[in-house]
Amino acid sequence: MTNENDLEKALISQERLQERVSELGREISQAYLDRDLAVIAILKGSFIFAADLLRAMTSSVTIDFMAISSYPGQTSSGVVRIIKDLEESIAGRNVLLVEDIIDTGLTASYLLRVLKQRNPASIEICALLDKSARRIIDLPIAYRGFDIPDVFVVGYGMDYQQKYRNLPYIAVLRQKE
Ligand code: IMP
Repeated sequence: MTNENDLEKALISQERLQERVSELGREISQAYLDRDLAVIAILKGSFIFAADLLRAMTSSVTIDFMAISSYPGQTSSGVVRIIKDLEESIAGRNVLLVEDIIDTGLTASYLLRVLKQRNPASIEICALLDKSARRIIDLPIAYRGFDIPDVFVVGYGMDYQQKYRNLPYIAVLRQKE
């Protein structure tokens, strides 16, 4: 069983999240002021971030979802299973891939490869969190919420064994000895 005792401390408060996500939304709206934008949120981890980000955007935008899952027993191999694919075509559209967290970078770089094959006009990454110290593949992140240290975080959509997604802030998970 997992419970709140598994959480070490709050890393990013609800207020800081709200403030930064609003800033990102405004920045993205400015960048795509006169361009159509297709936001693609990667489920499940980015669902709360994407919902807040979209509400902070004022430019014309659509949203679609892709659900992925890592192959069991393979941590950060970058090979993921697409459980739910996009409903709309992205051919000729400006795409913003919205991720909860970029760790090694393998997942996002795999998704970029898959989506580029569908001929979007452009494609950029927006990640709420960046564990840049763990990156093993170079990845251009156009919009980044916070750079965080090498700790395992939960909350604001992110999970540990499917739990804690509902925390309104981001917390560090206690490491078991
Ligand atoms: P990457 O392929 O190593 O960049 O892994 C990215 C994915 O791993 C994210 O989309 C998350 O699903 C998961 N992940 C990596 N670090 C964490 C974390 O600290 N908490 C929760 N999920 C994480």
